[in-house]
Amino acid sequence: MARHTDGTEKRCAHRGALLHFLADPGSHSDPASFEFFADGLLVVDEGRVAAVGPAGELLASLPADLPIIEHGGDILMPGFIDTHIHYPQTDVIGSGGRQLLDWLEDHTFPAERRFSDPVHARSVAEFFLDELLRNGTTTAMVFCTVHRTSAEAFFDAALRRRMRMIAGKVLMDRNCPPDLRDSPAAGAQDTRELLEKWHGRERLQYAITPRFAATSSPEQLESAGRLAREFPDVLIQTHAAENLEEVAWVRTLYPDARSYMDVYDRYGLVRERALFAHCIHIDRLDRERMAKSGAAAAFCPASNLYLGSGLFDIAAADCAGMRFSIATDVGGGNSFSMLRTLGDAYKVAHLAGQHLPALRAFYLATLGAARILGLQHRVGRFSAGSEADFIVLDLKATPLIARRTAQARSLEERLLALLTLGDDRVIARTYILGRQVHGAPATARTNRNNSG
Ligand code: GUN
Ligand code: ZN
Repeated sequence: MARHTDGTEKRCAHRGALLHFLADPGSHSDPASFEFFADGLLVVDEGRVAAVGPAGELLASLPADLPIIEHGGDILMPGFIDTHIHYPQTDVIGSGGRQLLDWLEDHTFPAERRFSDPVHARSVAEFFLDELLRNGTTTAMVFCTVHRTSAEAFFDAALRRRMRMIAGKVLMDRNCPPDLRDSPAAGAQDTRELLEKWHGRERLQYAITPRFAATSSPEQLESAGRLAREFPDVLIQTHAAENLEEVAWVRTLYPDARSYMDVYDRYGLVRERALFAHCIHIDRLDRERMAKSGAAAAFCPASNLYLGSGLFDIAAADCAGMRFSIATDVGGGNSFSMLRTLGDAYKVAHLAGQHLPALRAFYLATLGAARILGLQHRVGRFSAGSEADFIVLDLKATPLIARRTAQARSLEERLLALLTLGDDRVIARTYILGRQVHGAPATARTNRNNSG
């Protein structure tokens, strides 16, 4: 069997339980929205998915010398996609005390200052990417800092690992410490040069990244909107309507806007491939406008709880047709684990008098996020030709998880146990383009020797 120079097999198959989504299961867990094979097979060729299905059927059609990696009863699924996270806030996790605006001043801005140093930026980027992989996150939409060096360091580190990452240099030209400010012209120039260098390079994409309306002047949002029009396939990321004090402040800064979301809309930033973190304190018109434009919200439950920001309204989003994903928002969020974050989303839904089924939560963290980012043909689902970024979930990761999942009577119950009790310990292995990048080696044998 042909091998890559790094020793991994070019073509092989992974056998285990297998789950992936075809559509949004919605609040009623539509059984046609996912495929689950208790004994499944994922055939990988040159870093891409070649086939997926029940092991019994597929093995018979595959060559006798095909290497089979055995994952036992562990669950194979597409890698998680974290649609909102700040790599420079890795060291801010757990710095609490106060709500958003004070937290930014007290903890976040001081930490972000250090990213003018490319050596620091590089070392945090490497730690951050390791941590994503340990937690089963294979794609993320990432804020850098205002420093161009922070974006260069991040993209370069992701490129070397061949990871599918989206990132952008923060734009902020007011209401922040003077040494963290750019200007409309300099911010636009840096953005243009960075996106021309990195957007579409291998698996990397650029996101135009105004921090939030409060730290950008109208001139800066205007220039961000111009770039968004000039580069329609480039993504956009920012924060919106997270905290009541912030919302009131933005109202005074942009008195002519109907609402916080309307500020962004006026500058052409509400469009497809635009992702707005939080969107807690928005109204029906905002949601309908987002739905119509194709823009989406990133629901960040861990961060919203940690910073006391409020409860995202899933039912209102669904009612308006506004798409949303689920994201960690590290360092406002206190965990890199998408499993823990899905668990927090489940609880936030309950606090709001709503219900988030576990099946839907896993959809939102995989195919749902990929769709919002326009990546559904590349990642988030196992379809022929898609990129083989996937994870293996260990249902026996802890005695309690083993005990609880063994008693689960349905897939929904098992997934709910995983997002209630799980974290990085559940991620047994992570694969990028078919290459294992995290976890202990699994047992391999050839198809001929397989019990079938
Ligand atoms: N609003 C503006 N900047 C930030 C940030 O860094 N984190 C969060 N959670 N909200 C923000
Ligand atoms: Zn954020």
